[in-house]
Amino acid sequence: MPDVLFNPAPTESPLHALADKAERAQWRAADVAGWDEDMTLPWWLPRKFCAAVVSQLFHGEQATLKMCHRLLAEIEAPAARRCLELQIADEERHARVFLDYLSGIGGLQPIDPVLAAAYDKALAWTGPPEGLIAAFNIILEGEALYALDYLAGWIKCPLFRRIKGQVAKDEARHLAFGRLYLESTLGAFSPDQRQDLYDWLKDLWHDTAFGVLGKFRIPNFILRRRCRAWATTGWRDQQRVLAGVGLVAQ
Ligand SMILES: [Fe+2]
Ligand SMILES: [Fe+2]
Repeated sequence: MPDVLFNPAPTESPLHALADKAERAQWRAADVAGWDEDMTLPWWLPRKFCAAVVSQLFHGEQATLKMCHRLLAEIEAPAARRCLELQIADEERHARVFLDYLSGIGGLQPIDPVLAAAYDKALAWTGPPEGLIAAFNIILEGEALYALDYLAGWIKCPLFRRIKGQVAKDEARHLAFGRLYLESTLGAFSPDQRQDLYDWLKDLWHDTAFGVLGKFRIPNFILRRRCRAWATTGWRDQQRVLAGVGLVAQ
């Protein structure tokens, strides 16, 4: 992706409104009641597998924090900076809550190499901030939110479901930040720049989705089948979102 010689500023007022909402919605890890209750995992779901998956959510939070700090060094628009500062507070809280949950099911497990490669690739982006925002706030966080929701359905642990409920509200705002920012700046990109960014994002998604699918030993037939379906149709959903923010034609 060639560097752009301009730095289009996002429209401020919707981002200020989003930051106001994020300020009002701040919560504490202690607000997720019932930390002393047992973690109830289904009999067929090995704790080790569950700990490995929840650990990936923790590592995702850490990678997103790096992205937020990078963007703060690059973006000057005050409303976008407010959103990023509040996102940092959110992601730090999410990381803490996942780590606390992990302490009850076997502790933090290492990052999966496929996901580590995805975060490294996204963070290696050297073009304008829109690349990082699209990679993290749209693609990677969108998939993490989907995985969190799906996992909560399988795990059926009341404590994990409450964590999911709190985290998902924050993540929905992070997605909204990505959409609002990109909607107001991508119009300044040339068609070639938009196409290059789209191709880079598609590669990132494909490498990650098929890498995860080929690597993870999924301990259930239905879950395996569902994950395969996600890998074959998931890009279409991402494509719709990218079209919605003006990166590609509808
Ligand atoms: Fe998060
Ligand atoms: Fe997030």
